[in-house]
Amino acid sequence: MTERQSPSRRSTVRTSWDPLAEWYDGWSGKDGSLHHRKLAIPTTLELLDPQMNERILDIGAGLGALAPHVAARLAQYVGVDVSVRMVQKARKYHGHVGTFLQGDARHLHRVPGIQSASFEGAVFLLSIQDMNPLADVLRSAAWALRGGGRLIILMIHPCFRVPRQSGWGWQEERALQYRRVDRYLTPLAVPLKEYPGKAQGSSRSFHRPLHEYVNGLADSGFVLDRMKEITSSLAASGAKSKAEARAHQEIPLFLALRARKL
Ligand SMILES: C[S@@+](CC[C@H](N)C(=O)[O-])C[C@H]1O[C@@H](n2cnc3c(N)ncnc32)[C@H](O)[C@@H]1O
Repeated sequence: MTERQSPSRRSTVRTSWDPLAEWYDGWSGKDGSLHHRKLAIPTTLELLDPQMNERILDIGAGLGALAPHVAARLAQYVGVDVSVRMVQKARKYHGHVGTFLQGDARHLHRVPGIQSASFEGAVFLLSIQDMNPLADVLRSAAWALRGGGRLIILMIHPCFRVPRQSGWGWQEERALQYRRVDRYLTPLAVPLKEYPGKAQGSSRSFHRPLHEYVNGLADSGFVLDRMKEITSSLAASGAKSKAEARAHQEIPLFLALRARKL
C-alpha cells in the first residue's frame, strides 16, 4: 500500500494540519486572513505573474485561498496538501476553479496527477515553515517544475520572527518600540500554539535561519532572482501608537523569495 492510500500512514505525517483544519477554517476561511488578502497573496501574484494556460502548483495549499487569483489570470491551478480535511474543504470552496490533490510535499512523485517537469510555477504560501525536512521539500518542488519554472516562497520573516524567541519591547526613555531576537541561528522545531479547543502541539512549525533557504534552493538546482520584505501597516494615533506603527513599517513581517529552476 502506498503512503497516499493508507490512512494509518497518512496520519503519521506529523506536519499535517488535519487536527487544525476546523480552527484554521474559522480563522482564515475561504478567502484567507486579512494578511493573506492584503499582503501575502498580492506579493505572491506579483512575483509569480501567472500567464494564461500556465500550470501552477500550490504546495501546502490548505484551504486554497490562492486558487481564484491564479484562475483569474487564466492559469491552471493545482493545490496539494497532506491534510485530508484541508483538501476536502478546499474542494468545497474552490473546486470549481482548481484541482486539489492530497499528498505529501516531500514525495510529489507519488501523487497521482503530478508529473515531473509539468508546472511553470510553484508556490509555498505560508506553508514551507510547516514542512520538514527542507531539502526533501525543495528537491520535490524542483522535480515538479520544468526548466526555467518559477518557485515562490512566502513565509514569516525568519530573521525577525522566531517562534517563542522574539517579540516587541518598549523603551520608555526613547519612546521607542523595538524588536528583540533572542535566538536566530539555531534551527528549531516548535509545537504550534495551543488554539481554542485544540491540543497543544497538534502540529509543528520549523524555524530555520535564512542561509538554510538560500543554500537549500541552490542545492536543489534553483537560482534566486528576487526577494521582497513585506511590512504590515498599522493605523497610528497617540505617541505610543505612532512608535508602534513606525516599528511595524521598519521590521518586516513576511519574506518572499523567487527562484528559477535551472
Ligand atoms: C499554515 S497552512 C497554510 C495553508 C495555505 N497555503 C494558506 O496560506 O492558507 C500550512 C499547510 O501545510 C500543510 N502541510 C504541512 N506539511 C505538509 C506536507 N509534508 N505536505 C503537504 N502539505 C503539508 C498543512 O497541512 C497545512 O494545510
